[in-house]
Amino acid sequence: MPRLQLSPSILTADFARLGEQTRAVAPYVDWFHLDVMDGHYVDNITFGASTVAAINNSVDEPLHVHLMIEDPDKYAESFVAAGADRISFHPEVTEEPAGVIAHIKELGAGVGLAVHPDVGLGAVEPHLADLDVVLMMTVRPGFGGQAFLDEVVPEIARARRLVDDGGHRADVEVDGGVNLKTVVRAVEAGGEILVAGSGIFDGVDPVAAARRLRERLDGLS
Ligand code: DX5
Ligand code: ZN
Repeated sequence: MPRLQLSPSILTADFARLGEQTRAVAPYVDWFHLDVMDGHYVDNITFGASTVAAINNSVDEPLHVHLMIEDPDKYAESFVAAGADRISFHPEVTEEPAGVIAHIKELGAGVGLAVHPDVGLGAVEPHLADLDVVLMMTVRPGFGGQAFLDEVVPEIARARRLVDDGGHRADVEVDGGVNLKTVVRAVEAGGEILVAGSGIFDGVDPVAAARRLRERLDGLS
């Protein structure tokens, strides 16, 4: 099994100490996961390209920008310019997911589609061959600190099969409610990049939490 990758979501980090906190956990992680919300696609507003640029100046790890916004095509360029290495969006927000995928690729970034638990994989399947990542949401998008939705586990396994049987290069990434316990279910179902927000930044010691998750993933690899 290839090395399992850890990607902290900064959503529940201390925004007054973002640079310090991301640098502190960086030795244990492979990516940083940046949740951009516009208050329309979800009932929450987080941050924009300037925060992505600040993180990009703070760490060397690649940045995966998860767009929970209604117009990903309009804002993709600003996030790539800010340092996004990968951009994922929710296909149900646009009539033209293929066009948005092509645009993000033209901008030189990796591209992914995010799967809302109530939408399912069907909207992603036609585009699998063009993707670098399939982002399986194990919470309903909008907030950190929610419980892992076990009912999504069979869909993760289906995504794994679709990618492997189709010979596609896309990574299967799991996002939402991942912690020391739920990470095992996510990996056993086929997840290879694991996003953890509150599982790292909610505790008193994010570094120790990141190290423990890293050790757990190494034990599962
Ligand atoms: C939720 C976001 C997730 C979230 C993960 O809409 O897409 O990335 O921040 O945080 P936890 O791990 O706390 O669920
Ligand atoms: Zn996310």
